[in-house]
Amino acid sequence: MTSRKIVNVASVPKRSPFRYPGGKTWLVPLARKWWKSLGRKPELLIEPFAGGGIIGLTASFEDFADHVILVEKDPDVVAVWKCICSGNYPILCNRILTFEVSEENVRRTLADESQCIEEMAFRTIIKNRMFHGGILAPGASLMKSGENGKGLKSRWYAKTLSDRITAIGKIRHRFTVIEGDAIDVMTTYKDNSNAVFFIDPPYTASGKKAGSRLYRYCDLNHSALFELAASLSGEFLMTYDDAEGVRELAMRSKFDMELVAMKNTHHAKMTELLIGRNLAWSRQDTRLHRQPEFNFDE
Ligand SMILES: C[S@@+](CC[C@H](N)C(=O)[O-])C[C@H]1O[C@@H](n2cnc3c(N)ncnc32)[C@H](O)[C@@H]1O
Repeated sequence: MTSRKIVNVASVPKRSPFRYPGGKTWLVPLARKWWKSLGRKPELLIEPFAGGGIIGLTASFEDFADHVILVEKDPDVVAVWKCICSGNYPILCNRILTFEVSEENVRRTLADESQCIEEMAFRTIIKNRMFHGGILAPGASLMKSGENGKGLKSRWYAKTLSDRITAIGKIRHRFTVIEGDAIDVMTTYKDNSNAVFFIDPPYTASGKKAGSRLYRYCDLNHSALFELAASLSGEFLMTYDDAEGVRELAMRSKFDMELVAMKNTHHAKMTELLIGRNLAWSRQDTRLHRQPEFNFDE
């Protein structure tokens, strides 16, 4: 039983070029179960709050959907996805591989205001690696540079990043990136029964995990999102912080809920709420609910 658990987690390839606050790498084993429970391969998997996009990436790499749509509102995050999907990703890889890490170079890069997509993408990657917690929202701060920039260097995995970007770039025809609003795109596809949705919205709960600290865009009408989810022809899976208000919204829409345990980067045990029409599939093997910790930053 123990070894089975470890195999499950070890088989989660880290494919995203981001280390994303609220990233869902830990959910991949459950997402795979969800896809298998659908009984057929959907034409479209839509990730309307894409961020680091790990679920969309996994669906694509593992052939769980014919095509993936990533939707994201933050232009800095979108720049990375657009750059990769435009085919110009070797320019980004080259910038990453030749970057010499020092506090001065990081600050110089971040001060650049070029709106060229490759430069925006590069800035975002630098920020994501070098800022506390990978946070890209205004107010985030640069990590301590340490002696000879050692602190910053320890955050920089140039080859790993370049390899991940190249791998995604090679299958870019399987992705569409939309810079826009999740609600608009979900509304566009709401009557498409061949589309499935993985919905991981920013949730502004009070306290440490407050969305406004983590994301540039975090204002959302959660009640409207639940109503829209209820009207989707296709299947969906939502994840939320486990909060009273969220449970109420789920109950009002008569959705099924399941609490899953995870460990965060600091090994603290946390819980997250899965929401869907019928989550019976998620209860079939409870071993998957107990995720051992793993390092998101490798
Ligand atoms: C919880 S994070 C998603 C994390 C993602 N599932 C992952 O594994 O990396 C929520 C994301 O939604 C984005 N976002 C916030 N409001 C949005 C909106 N109205 N439309 C599209 N994206 C939005 C945020 O910028 C953030 O990247």
